[in-house]
Amino acid sequence: MKNIIVGQSGGPTSVINSSVAGVYKKAKELGVEHVYGMVHGIEGFLEENFIDLDDYLSDNNNYELLKRTPAAFLGSCRYKLPKVEGNEDVYEKIFSILEKHEIDAFFYTGGNDSMDTIKMLSDYAKEHNKTQVFMGVPKTIDNDLPITDHCPGYGSCAKYIATSLREVIRDNASFSKNRLTVCIVEIMGRNAGWLTAAAALAKDETGEGVDAIYLPEVDFELDKFIENIKKLSETKSSIVVAVSEGIHDKDGKFICELSDGDRSVDAFGHKQLSGTATTLANIIAKETGFKTRAIEFSTLQRAASHIASLTDINEAEMVGEKAVEEANNGNTGMMVTLVRKSSNPYSCETGIYDIHDIANVEKKVPIEWIDLDNNQMKQEFIDYAKPLIIGELQPIYKDGIPQHLLRK
Ligand code: F6P
Repeated sequence: MKNIIVGQSGGPTSVINSSVAGVYKKAKELGVEHVYGMVHGIEGFLEENFIDLDDYLSDNNNYELLKRTPAAFLGSCRYKLPKVEGNEDVYEKIFSILEKHEIDAFFYTGGNDSMDTIKMLSDYAKEHNKTQVFMGVPKTIDNDLPITDHCPGYGSCAKYIATSLREVIRDNASFSKNRLTVCIVEIMGRNAGWLTAAAALAKDETGEGVDAIYLPEVDFELDKFIENIKKLSETKSSIVVAVSEGIHDKDGKFICELSDGDRSVDAFGHKQLSGTATTLANIIAKETGFKTRAIEFSTLQRAASHIASLTDINEAEMVGEKAVEEANNGNTGMMVTLVRKSSNPYSCETGIYDIHDIANVEKKVPIEWIDLDNNQMKQEFIDYAKPLIIGELQPIYKDGIPQHLLRK
């Protein structure tokens, strides 16, 4: 491979840059001349907006800083490639840019929507006898890519959620029953409850944890929810509940939509989900008279590189390296996967899988892993998720604040 290019797409994570680092590292080991980075994914690529990663990463201090930098260092996008029929000019442009810059391989870090880009481009290349190869590098806090055991980005987000919830539980328990507060914490993840399930990891040795967990895999029943809060209030002086942003009623209506009607919709047709905790906190306050508090972890959960999981950082780097290795072997139209060998002791390897079985497919939390009677997660989930949050990478501090690598 003479030159290659890597792009970032979709919602950022706190370890997505480690995958870019892994791509760069392996490519340089293999003697690739230029490792380009697309600025804002395929959207920037179409404008030939690239950087040469040598300008940043040939310095090992920057390489280490990049691994500690959250969000998309290269810039991200939510851009859906149009279908080929009627849009041949878009595809011709993409391939002419690749040819012009002698780029032999194209790497895209992203979730199920972003893998659609790899599918479209690798299919087009095959049908038009193009030689360039296209590889997907998994990334999403939502952990909803199929086939792979888990997704880089998930472990760090889960670690932030468990840590912050433990702190919220401590705070909320400070007062006596006379000042009972119902704290409702909203967690990202869209239609998959993997991140909200990570609330279960907040439980400590004393057994103190969140009082209830509501995932989008189960239809949400408002009456039962209010009943549960009332029941908990009979014995508890503090109530902390974790809810997914994507919880919905039996007709598919999102709970956050009970508050307002208009929501922005992205290129892949996803509605912006937020406001679930506030909606429920207002309902509980009205129905029970209890003091309530709504917390939306929002961006904080996916940008918290100061508390990222070392396991996650290492795996994010590993999948980047593997993608380059496989592209160099001539593979195309594939995504790198994480293949768990054992949970205790934890061990995981990388593999590759056909992108057609991955793009646009969402993997949900198995219903058998949910304790439906108690609104908690079962041990199967804990055993699955616990190894993914292990380990820390010390941030590099300056003036008391972690440093990041920025694009010039
Ligand atoms: O797909 C990752 C994710 O963080 C989801 O959990 C969340 O619903 C969505 O992105 C938010 O997207 P945006 O930041 O574009 O509003």
